[in-house]
Parts: sequence; structure tokens; C-alpha cells
Amino acid sequence: MHSYGIRVATRDDLGEARAVMLDALYRDFGTGYVPRWHEDVIDVEGFYLGPDRHVLLVAYDEEDGAVVGTGALDSRGPRHPQWLADRYPDGETAQLRRVYVRPEHRRRGLAGRMVAELLDFARQDGRYRSVYLHTYRHSPGALDLWRTLGKELWEEDDGVVHFEIPLS
Ligand SMILES: CC(C)(COP(=O)(O)OP(=O)(O)OC[C@H]1O[C@@H](n2cnc3c(N)ncnc32)[C@H](O)[C@@H]1OP(=O)(O)O)[C@@H](O)C(=O)NCCC(=O)NCCS
Repeated sequence: MHSYGIRVATRDDLGEARAVMLDALYRDFGTGYVPRWHEDVIDVEGFYLGPDRHVLLVAYDEEDGAVVGTGALDSRGPRHPQWLADRYPDGETAQLRRVYVRPEHRRRGLAGRMVAELLDFARQDGRYRSVYLHTYRHSPGALDLWRTLGKELWEEDDGVVHFEIPLS
């Protein structure tokens, strides 16, 4: 039986965290790396370690120390459509991003634990008013996970699904 820890990522975690993210983009989403959507995956430090209202968590296997999952939060709301951007503005919206768990470590509660810690981080910040994310209908486990945690706002024709997660 594996046991896992969750911690705020440091520079030492970035290589492994990036590998988890890239594997999800290639194997789960099937899009691979697309610069206009995934620049944070390359500049993980600039997006998540520098800004004090952003954070990246990693889940790690306590046996060998390997990073097996990631979960991030930043202060950017959705860009489109306009009604969604208006409802979840930059600065007041904590956006959950890059919640990925390596396939062999799934269904052991890691995403749930990381999201709980990300929500704590957002509450402690004090300036976030809501929590938003988008995901993809076809991604393994994604809709199941987010439906247990929040409310579906809108699904686009191409399978992008938008959610709000309660902050309190
Ligand atoms: C979605 C994902 C992050 C879930 O990670 P996880 O660590 O396995 O999730 P958890 O174990 O915390 O699951 C919490 C709950 O979500 C639901 N859930 C998660 N994955 C599920 C699945 N494949 N099928 C059905 N329900 C699922 C269950 O209710 C689960 O609770 P339970 O195991 O007690 O029944 C993981 O499957 C993944 O990395 N998928 C590919 C990338 C992705 O789509 N990420 C999310 C999009 S942003």
C-alpha cells in the first residue's frame, strides 16, 4: 500500500512536475504541448513559484519520493466567452489548473487532497471570491472528479466543460 505526501512545489520538483503535466497533455488530452494553451507548463517557475497569489502543489510517493501528481492555482479568470470572463474576473478568481495524477496512482484520493489544499490556499489569500476551472469531457476521470466537487456551468461544442467549485 502506497502512502503519499502533498507539498508546495519547490525548484527541485519542477522537472518531475513538468513531466507529469506533459504526459497528461500527450496521453490523456491527446493535444500534446500547444504553446498558446500550455506556456505555464514550460515556465512553471514563472507562473506558479514567483507570484505569491499562485501556487503549485505536488503529490509524491513517500516510498521513493517520486512526484506522481500536480495541482496548481492562479489568479486568472477565463478569457472567453465574455459572460464567463465577466462572472469570473482576473484577480478575484482562483483558477484551478494542471490537476493531473499519473495513471498508476489514480483513485487513491490524490486529486481530492490536492484540491482541498488549493481551496485552503485560496481562502487564506483572502481576495479570491470564487474558484473556476475548465476541463475536457473526454479526459479520464475529469468530469467524475469535478462533479463531486463543484457545479457544471457550461459545456462547449468541442467538449470543453466549465466548472465553479465552492470556496467556502
Ligand atoms: C481526473 C484525475 C486528476 C483524478 O485524479 P485521482 O487522484 O484519481 O482522483 P481522486 O482519487 O482524488 O478521486 C476523487 C473522486 O473523484 C471521482 N473520480 C475520480 N476519477 C474517477 C474515475 N476515473 N471514474 C469515476 N470517478 C472518478 C470519484 O468520485 C473519486 O472518489 P472515489 O475514488 O472515492 O470514488 C486523474 O484521473 C487524471 O489525472 N486524469 C487525467 C488528467 C485530467 O483530466 N485532469 C483533470 C482535468 S483539469
